[in-house]
Amino acid sequence: MKKLFLASLVVLVASAISTYLLYLDDSFLETENDFGSKIVLGFAQLGAESEWRSASSASIKDAARRYGIELMFENAQQKQENQIKAIRSFIAHRVDVIAFSPIVETGWDNILLEAKAEGIPVVLVDRHIRTESDGLFAAFVGSDFVEEGRKAGRWLRKKFADAEGEVRVVELRGTEGSSPMRGRYEGFREALGDNDWDNDPKSSAQFKVLCSLRGDFMRSKGRETMEQILSSYSNIDVLFAHNDDMAMGAVEAMEERGIRPGKDVVVISVDAQRSAVEAMKQGKINCIVECNPYVGDRLMELVRKLVAGVSVPSRIYSEEKVYTEDDAPEDLPVHPY
Ligand code: AHR
Repeated sequence: MKKLFLASLVVLVASAISTYLLYLDDSFLETENDFGSKIVLGFAQLGAESEWRSASSASIKDAARRYGIELMFENAQQKQENQIKAIRSFIAHRVDVIAFSPIVETGWDNILLEAKAEGIPVVLVDRHIRTESDGLFAAFVGSDFVEEGRKAGRWLRKKFADAEGEVRVVELRGTEGSSPMRGRYEGFREALGDNDWDNDPKSSAQFKVLCSLRGDFMRSKGRETMEQILSSYSNIDVLFAHNDDMAMGAVEAMEERGIRPGKDVVVISVDAQRSAVEAMKQGKINCIVECNPYVGDRLMELVRKLVAGVSVPSRIYSEEKVYTEDDAPEDLPVHPY
């Protein structure tokens, strides 16, 4: 009886301590702004070009609801001027924090200087920017696009480790001037040209990028551009698509011509959306470099810290994997998008 009493007491004390610790852990984070009302976040999404983008928007909306943050959400329909307009309206509303996924890298200095002048912190989500002045944003949360391109290039080198002669590559690029387009383009080439590669120093494959054309991260454009490529080039060995939507469009274009994607043409893509993972299981895509759209929670944590005046890391990168044709189907991700 005494033992039972002692055991119950230990359980009771332990749960009281853990509840207190949980409270402590969150206690420094603000749930309200200086005026005692709900924190307001203005978010300017760049558009809805891909399934990845829809998942990103859903992640932000869902996290805002769970964190009790009031969200003003604008969809800029692929236009930088709309994103700038949205940010200006957030400034006029005097939101507590502004966040946005910049459609392109440049052209943000003026509007960010306006936000800075009003003392509103800015968080970049998913994509990077390049500005003339420093200190125009408080934090970045998203992916390392150059590394994603390198991962694609490294996998390709491994795949062709025993090959000899020319390997003919075509590339479907994302939105011109955007950071994922530039990062993946550069990282891919860097990895292909890396002579310190230790996987197979004997390989004599020569990678030749026949063409690199834009598909704007959209399935319809990926398909259209791949049709043009197939009309202009024969003997294509590899397609590197900067995202899954374009890869899926290209898969359709190839199949229409009787070309077997994944077999006649090696297909590398980025994102890991559900349809592309399914295509990989069917042998139509050989490698997918993961890009993670689920940054909503991390964004809300940053927002709370910024409102509380707590210092935040300037860059937070998502951890991302590479999935390949060699993975067992049960090891492939089942993302809800
Ligand atoms: O910025 C991230 C990229 O944008 C994703 O890879 C792509 O699918 C999206 O449209």
